[in-house]
Amino acid sequence: MTQADTATPLLRARGITKHYGAVVALDAVDLDLHAGEVLGVVGDNGAGKSTLIKALTGAISKTAGTVEMDGKDIQITTPTEAKAAGIETVYQDLALVNELSITKNMYLGREIVRDTLFGHLFGTLDFAKMDTEIRALFQKLDIRITDIYREAEAFSGGQRQAVALAKTVMFGKRIAILDEPTAALGVRESKMAMDLVRSLKDHGLSVIMITHNMQHVMNYCDRVMVLRLGRLAAVRDVADVDGDTLVGLITGAAEDKVA
Ligand SMILES: Nc1ncnc2c1ncn2[C@@H]1O[C@H](COP(=O)(O)OP(=O)(O)OP(=O)(O)O)[C@@H](O)[C@H]1O
Ligand SMILES: [Mg+2]
Repeated sequence: MTQADTATPLLRARGITKHYGAVVALDAVDLDLHAGEVLGVVGDNGAGKSTLIKALTGAISKTAGTVEMDGKDIQITTPTEAKAAGIETVYQDLALVNELSITKNMYLGREIVRDTLFGHLFGTLDFAKMDTEIRALFQKLDIRITDIYREAEAFSGGQRQAVALAKTVMFGKRIAILDEPTAALGVRESKMAMDLVRSLKDHGLSVIMITHNMQHVMNYCDRVMVLRLGRLAAVRDVADVDGDTLVGLITGAAEDKVA
């Protein structure tokens, strides 16, 4: 047992279950996320990875299960409640809103209102402040987007993903949850996205990252959990596994002998 196993996890989920009618998408899955770690979540298509994080962040209602933060019960039933708890999520299917500018996407749902009586009365947005903050952040993260008033759909997949990740850096207070942050990205863009994941960790956030890329698990994660057919198949310290073993656990070729 490592020291991490004995400390109270930042996030502790137990028995997370999701049924879609007769389909059991997720069957009593447990998850511990420790402070300051990057936890990988792997598994085949349809294994229940996205369902797990959506259940944790209130994007879908779970059929059963409990969640604790800092050892205390917490009810997260909407994405807004997740944000309030310091959890920022990049979902697989809706990272950015195409029709909105980069600026609006960055601040969607939490626009800065001008700090004047007029601003508070009429909700005038403080674009100057948002502009300054976004440019400073992009520069710090080496995101080379200057045209921040253009619609998101005008940018490449990699650029859009970088913006979505930047949002978690800007607003994630405690936990960043990323559903396949490098899906459909090129080599250079993947590297950039993964550097951003590392900078989330450097900013003191704990990260849950779904990925199909075993190299990213080995290089960027501290621990990894394997889902198979909606069940938790294994949890490992990354230092104790190799890519081949992980693939075996994902497909079920290697049953979890330690558990
Ligand atoms: N809205 C839904 N209605 C019915 N079934 C669903 C729904 N969403 C997911 N499922 C089912 O739940 C299971 C898990 O899906 P989920 O999206 O969590 O998989 P995943 O591990 O994220 O896969 P991928 O790697 O392809 O993203 C699948 O069998 C899927 O068909
Ligand atoms: Mg998914």
